[in-house]
Amino acid sequence: MKVTVVGAGNVGATVANVLAAKNFCSEVVLIDVKEGLSEGKAMDIMQTAHMLNFDTTVIGATSPLDAPDYSATAGSDVIVITSGIPRKPGMSREDLIGVNAKIVKGVVDQALKHSPNAIFIIISNPMDAMTYLTLKDSKLPRNRVLGQGGMLDSSRFRYFLSKALQKAGYPATPTDVDGTVIGGHSDKTMVPLVSLATYRGIPVTQLLSDEEIKDAVEQTKVGGATLTKLLGTSAWYAPGAAAAAMVEAIALDAKKLMPCCVYLDGEYGEKDLCIGVPVILGKNGLEKIVEYKLEGDEKAKFDESVAAARATNSKLGDALK
Ligand code: 2OP
Repeated sequence: MKVTVVGAGNVGATVANVLAAKNFCSEVVLIDVKEGLSEGKAMDIMQTAHMLNFDTTVIGATSPLDAPDYSATAGSDVIVITSGIPRKPGMSREDLIGVNAKIVKGVVDQALKHSPNAIFIIISNPMDAMTYLTLKDSKLPRNRVLGQGGMLDSSRFRYFLSKALQKAGYPATPTDVDGTVIGGHSDKTMVPLVSLATYRGIPVTQLLSDEEIKDAVEQTKVGGATLTKLLGTSAWYAPGAAAAAMVEAIALDAKKLMPCCVYLDGEYGEKDLCIGVPVILGKNGLEKIVEYKLEGDEKAKFDESVAAARATNSKLGDALK
């Protein structure tokens, strides 16, 4: 299994680091436009091999903006795209669309030339729109173009639910909690599914008050913005680990159920749109979309999220040509 991670910033380096530590890839190529950055980070990661006990080879490569060179990535099975600018405090993910659409499009074109059979995982923001752009630009079948957002947002939901449960007197850790977030990877419109949230199988609605659940939901929705405010730039540990989990499910053909951004063609009543829904990931990338019957106001919230994602896609303009 050869994996390329495009962009050696905080998120990309974390993806490479987590992949190496998990030791299921033969090779991870970290590539960036900035000379020395990916080489340095790859070397630093390789110098943890002895301590972390992995045999994965991590390689850094520079692809200059004015003379792109993706030869080091040739024959990759999975390509993770983190390229583009991250948001700063006060910005929404959607504010990044103009700059990042051009960058992502260029990356996809280069990467595909050298790895025509790769599965793409998009992290660059606004992620749902960048996933849609990748799918349209590459003309790849939808099983090979996935966006990372649902795993991250669901992991944040589990974290905030575990904090609420702890406050209510239950010794919950995030791994004790199940939580799924669907819809767009967007502060305002992502949809944490309270109906699926459980503490070791017990619905959290039986253990927490409406107010406590609402608070966990709201904190999840602005989870990325909260970190951006604290860090001065957007987060990387959880976004990187979420993408690595997706790569792992594909590499090991694990057939794991994960919320991911995929192209809908009638599922959940929607067409011609990439948005987060529960899917099975395996060696073909997207193996199956799991249609969950949305309860209560979840359907209305998902519809709102769909409308917002469509509005963002409409700003892709010329990039889609
Ligand atoms: C986040 O929510 C970077 O979009 C990513 O942290």
